[in-house]
Amino acid sequence: MPTNSLHSLDVAHHIHPVTNLRRHERQGPIVIDRGEGIYVYDDEGRQYIEAMAGLWSVGVGFGEPRLVEAAAKQLSKLPYYHVFSHKAHAPSTLLAAKLTELAPAGLTHVFFTNSGAEANDSVIKFVWYYNNALGRTEKKKFISREGAYHGITIAAASLTGLAGNQKGFDLPLPFARHATRPHHYRNALPGESEEAFADRLAQEIEDLILAEGPETVAAFIGEPVMGAGGVIVPPKGYWQKVQAVCCKYDVLIVADEVINGFGRLGTMFGCEALGIEPDILVCSKQITSSYQPLAAILMKDSIYQPIADQSEKLGMLGHGYTTGAHPVATAVALENLAIIEERGLVARAAAMGEYMRASLARFADHPLVGEVRGMGLIAAVELVADKATKARFDSVGKVGLKLFDRAHNHGLIVRAIGDSIAFCPPMIITEAEIDEMLRRFAATLDEVEAWVKAGMPDA
Ligand SMILES: Cc1ncc(COP(=O)(O)O)c(C=O)c1O
Repeated sequence: MPTNSLHSLDVAHHIHPVTNLRRHERQGPIVIDRGEGIYVYDDEGRQYIEAMAGLWSVGVGFGEPRLVEAAAKQLSKLPYYHVFSHKAHAPSTLLAAKLTELAPAGLTHVFFTNSGAEANDSVIKFVWYYNNALGRTEKKKFISREGAYHGITIAAASLTGLAGNQKGFDLPLPFARHATRPHHYRNALPGESEEAFADRLAQEIEDLILAEGPETVAAFIGEPVMGAGGVIVPPKGYWQKVQAVCCKYDVLIVADEVINGFGRLGTMFGCEALGIEPDILVCSKQITSSYQPLAAILMKDSIYQPIADQSEKLGMLGHGYTTGAHPVATAVALENLAIIEERGLVARAAAMGEYMRASLARFADHPLVGEVRGMGLIAAVELVADKATKARFDSVGKVGLKLFDRAHNHGLIVRAIGDSIAFCPPMIITEAEIDEMLRRFAATLDEVEAWVKAGMPDA
């Protein structure tokens, strides 16, 4: 029940995303008031370890004064300008150049949007525009994966492969296809090795391209390591095999690095860690540590050139957002990337990731834990009803939700993805803080185990 006026105003007027709205009316919000390092504090002074870095995004942690100063400086100099019709401003131009320097080789041209979903929507439009420019007017379908998350705008949500983001919205649109989620624990056949699983999934994608007709398939999009679909690390060799298939049929590879980018996997981009050579790369979140809304699309010159020709033929590239390439957001991004480089946060994420995953591995023996998985500084613990058979709980998500709820009482914010519990802390986290985060998790897990054993009362 709402407890103060802010809580009741919120319930009365504020529609929350990814929320059961009736449940929200009953229980009210947790109002987060301030943040410092890996911690956030609610309006009643309670401290939480933000084990998800907000939404997989606050890489440099909360309360970083350099980002506040960068924003203030830019706000006082030029708080807003656009980049339509040949206008430019220094922060967005410098950021575009910086991104091409940091990104995998060959990604030389950059377009900015406000969010990851807008970026993926823009990718779809750019790829359609590109194929139209080349006279390949049928080559428009995208292959994504079950469990993928690419955002929630109409087209991006069609690429997303999670029923929860499509049910009730008349989605997906027909240009999108979904291949099997590359999750060995859940989707491999009995006795199937990682290599054989990767072979089978690559073959499935080839069969899908052939069934649809290669002349109709434009691109394959994927997160190097899936985030919102449950932190799914693909089987060894998967990306190389998928890439070979796509190359064979002139299907572009789009790497969605909205979560993976800027150090999360212990490399600047996930493509490096997974051996992907993308034609297009999408990034956001840790680009500004989410202090400002910003996303970027990077593309190869071979994609840019036909698009540029087409813009001349049609008179302009008729695409853009009022606040895309925002000067304050791009100035904050430049400072954020400088901090990541100066403080060696990519190498730090690799080292802390190893420590976090080794520490999490100890939970593998817990009666409720089916799988512990992850890469770099991102991981998940999947809870199951039966360890031996990997059987899920009768009502998937109920136990995960209980753990998510109870964790707040232990000063911990995690994310429940069905019955998988995700960890993606700020990249500044220390070993001692990881120990404390997992101490709070252990206490919550034991409490949830007792609740499961008691028959899940009041679920
Ligand atoms: C991989 C990936 N792509 C795209 C998005 C969408 O980004 P946004 O919420 O900024 O639209 C997300 C958001 O979590 C994501 O994880």
